[in-house]
Amino acid sequence: MHKEFANIYDVFMESVNYEDWYKYLRKYIKKAGTVLDLGCGTGEFLVRFSKDGFSSIGVDISEVMLEIAGDKTKESKDVELYQGDIRNFRAEKPVDYVVCNFDTVNYFDKFGDLEDFLLCSYENLKENGILIFDVVTEEIFEEMFENGVFLDEKENYLTIWRYNKEGENYIINIKLFIREKENLFRNYEEVHVKTIFDLEEIANKALETGFDIVDIKNDEEFGENRFFFILKK
Ligand SMILES: C[S@@+](CC[C@H](N)C(=O)[O-])C[C@H]1O[C@@H](n2cnc3c(N)ncnc32)[C@H](O)[C@@H]1O
Repeated sequence: MHKEFANIYDVFMESVNYEDWYKYLRKYIKKAGTVLDLGCGTGEFLVRFSKDGFSSIGVDISEVMLEIAGDKTKESKDVELYQGDIRNFRAEKPVDYVVCNFDTVNYFDKFGDLEDFLLCSYENLKENGILIFDVVTEEIFEEMFENGVFLDEKENYLTIWRYNKEGENYIINIKLFIREKENLFRNYEEVHVKTIFDLEEIANKALETGFDIVDIKNDEEFGENRFFFILKK
């Protein structure tokens, strides 16, 4: 899970265009209301929703991610942050929208967790409320890893990823070297587990949970291996 990696998350993600991603969400989230951001990470979406007059609630399991989100949203109005699990978090009041971005659901290690997440989102939503989340498909590993290795080097860190497939889980071993001084690095290792879920199975479970499917689609800008689910209660 995101521990030391959280400290470099924003630099690691600097090629992701959050502004465009946010605009994409706003195609389905038109009227201001309350947004619950499940797996909010460092708060990129919370800042934007708040700026546009939404009340927002961010939930994440990682303390470090939440600390960064707290700093980033300290000037933002109407933002609440909670450390919690997105399989069972319960907001005080029902919300208008639930979002869960950047393949956060692929961090579940079994389909049962995704079922719990769908139910959790459903129960947190008002009638007619919208849930938007995205998942990646198996091909993302070919896209990202060359000969089974992914390497990213920036001014203040170097990270090397390798994965092993165990059943339906991808066990990603992450080595991280964070620069402290010119030639002094702190070394860390952490393991992230990712699971690839079948899109049809997700759609069927969403229907079974009680959602209507508004759309399941990918978008050129965010890659052909990423699918957005737009569901309505
Ligand atoms: C890939 S990051 C995405 C962060 C953010 N949504 C973004 O778009 O930048 C996944 C986030 O989900 C969180 N996460 C993963 N599993 C979780 C769980 N079961 N409950 C709460 N947060 C979780 C991680 O700590 C991490 O911050």
